Amino acid sequence: MRKAARRIDSLARKALVASTWHRRSLSISSLRHQRLASSAATDFASSPSAPLSTTKPSLGSAKADRVPLSDSEGPLSAEDVAINHYAHFNPTPMSIKQFLDFGKSLSTNGKEFCAQSSFEFLRTELPVRLANIMKEIQLLPQNLQSQPSTKIVQHWYRQSFLDVIKYADADPHERKVVAKFTEDLAKIRNRHTLVVETMAQGVIELRKALLDEGKPVMDSATRMSIQYFLDRFYMMRISIRMLITQHTMLFGNELPFSARHIGTIDPECDIQAVIEDAYTNARALCETNYEKYPELRLQCINTVEEGVPAKMVYVPSHLFHISFELFKNAMRAVCERSTEPLGIADAHLPPIDVVIVKTAEDVTIKMSDFGGGIPQSNMPKLFDYMFSTAPTPLGGEVEPGQNVPAMAGYGYGLPLSRLYARYFHGDLQVYSVHGYGTDALIYLKTLSDSASELLPVFNKSVMKQYRAQRTHGWSSSTSKFGQLVEWG
Ligand SMILES: Nc1ncnc2c1ncn2[C@@H]1O[C@H](COP(=O)(O)OP(=O)(O)OP(=O)(O)O)[C@@H](O)[C@H]1O
Ligand SMILES: [Mg+2]
Repeated sequence: MRKAARRIDSLARKALVASTWHRRSLSISSLRHQRLASSAATDFASSPSAPLSTTKPSLGSAKADRVPLSDSEGPLSAEDVAINHYAHFNPTPMSIKQFLDFGKSLSTNGKEFCAQSSFEFLRTELPVRLANIMKEIQLLPQNLQSQPSTKIVQHWYRQSFLDVIKYADADPHERKVVAKFTEDLAKIRNRHTLVVETMAQGVIELRKALLDEGKPVMDSATRMSIQYFLDRFYMMRISIRMLITQHTMLFGNELPFSARHIGTIDPECDIQAVIEDAYTNARALCETNYEKYPELRLQCINTVEEGVPAKMVYVPSHLFHISFELFKNAMRAVCERSTEPLGIADAHLPPIDVVIVKTAEDVTIKMSDFGGGIPQSNMPKLFDYMFSTAPTPLGGEVEPGQNVPAMAGYGYGLPLSRLYARYFHGDLQVYSVHGYGTDALIYLKTLSDSASELLPVFNKSVMKQYRAQRTHGWSSSTSKFGQLVEWG
């Protein structure tokens, strides 16, 4: 046992070619680890440090429980040793304020210095996040892991992990190194563009394989395991893309949306403007599909500054994504209801009502439609990735990883939107009055320092979850969402 541990340690050192600073940060982490271990055992990481501040960055906290990282008896490859090594650390959640402050510090600390800090933080934080989620892919049911599309996704993650750890020992003071790193990050992001669709395709391939075996219904353990995984996997993907895009926009050739933006973050995100933009886009899609669309009736209440547009620090693309998905659902419900025998006459499509309310603590967006609501029997399945009342694209002959089918009918709209809302500690809830209509509520945090990333952590109890479907396992300063991924 000890021999094996020594072998892993020495291989890990080889794989990482640890630099002096890297080793120092490990010892800082071990100190933190001791403190963590003495406190009550928890599946949640310590509160965020200040990783992108002007101080030197360090690896996130080491895990209180050393996770048994491999079931395999045979020798591990250097790659696997490196993955195991990074998976022993918790991701470090960042708040919107930290992202913002770091972006603003460019003008005082200089772009080059900040690029170095960002490089030093990301070359450890990205492999930690990648490794944590890669360990979970390995715990998926074997029949899902063996699907061609799942294998492609696994390959992309492995490749990107290797692309980043090769910088473990690079000199951050070398301009060329940081510039090449920035270029590589953009390539990694492009490589992962189709991850959501490809992973969805993997699940479809599994369902098709089960059908071919004469099993039309997926067993509940497999279904729950997939649901649990996808929530965590897609959340980690959102977070990794956020880190990469912040870096490439601040230090690469990509231009932010406006001079006001700090990377993807708009310090004065105009909520109403984003919602209207999402409505216009969804309306165009609706018109193509149904040759009609409901109007938008919008009201905005700013209790902080009366008469002033409701603005907040946020990532507009995230809010756009959420509201676009909600508009599509609402429009589909309204238009399809109008075609039902006792539905609404086409000329009188009821509008979609949106109310935006900003207080000192929260921004709440309520979207109400009169599309007939959702039966109570369907409510528990709403956020299930495999639940949709639209025709399932099962059986489409698609080459894995290429020409991926459209998302419509996958049932990804609501679960993904909820992840975007929760990523910075907001939420998304749906209420229905069957026979009448649906209310969807988006909750966001007004204060950017309380809006910190909610990140999945791979640990022992998560491993048990994949076997027993029951645990927490998110890295966050609050544990509010731990229970929400449980199934009773
Ligand atoms: N406003 C709504 N009114 C009525 N039913 C709704 C509403 N919103 C969601 N639903 C129901 O919930 C299901 C899941 O919604 P979700 O957005 O996750 O997936 P989808 O719309 O079917 O597909 P897509 O992945 O394209 O969004 C829908 O198929 C629909 O049956
Ligand atoms: Mg939808």
